[in-house]
Amino acid sequence: MSRPGLDLAVLATLLAVLGLGALAYGLRARSTVAWVGALLLATSALFVGQAVRLGRLPPQNPVPATPQSVRTGQRLYQQHCQVCHGPEGRGDGPAAATLRPRPADLRRTARFPDSLLFLRITEGLPGTAMPAFRDTLTEEERWHVVNYLRRLTE
Ligand code: HEC
Repeated sequence: MSRPGLDLAVLATLLAVLGLGALAYGLRARSTVAWVGALLLATSALFVGQAVRLGRLPPQNPVPATPQSVRTGQRLYQQHCQVCHGPEGRGDGPAAATLRPRPADLRRTARFPDSLLFLRITEGLPGTAMPAFRDTLTEEERWHVVNYLRRLTE
């Protein structure tokens, strides 16, 4: 697999080029195209941020998905995630009904690279109930959870 974050970096570059072009054209023509350009640039900056954070992670999951790791991940999942994401990761835990947005159906993360799952668990998702587990779980524990999620969403 290519280095995590590389595809995002390419996308960000493309958006930045388009954005700069639209901004330059829009400013010269005094057109609303300038706003589109500004929006593209802002989106590009968001992608750059995520690409850099992904790029800093180990390119591969450093914790082998042994049966023991998966079991540890399962225990941690039941302790920390199930209340929202549900026993099978469908986003239907007991706390889910009260949350907006609803907890993600984790089956749709089946195609995420391990590093992106790790980043979501580490940072949480600001603006949603998804907590950051940076201080709750050790790095190794977060990789165990990733190994378990891989089994859960197979
Ligand atoms: C308090 C409720 C809550 C808990 C506890 C929780 N989550 Fe979440 N989770 C959410 C919500 C809400 C979202 C955001 C859904 C959205 O953005 O639509 C989310 C999103 C995610 C995503 C991102 C999915 C995507 O499509 O980008 C992942 C991965 C995830 N959670 C994994 C976990 C794991 C693993 C744990 C336990 C270590 C956990 N969550 C604990 C509520 C929770």
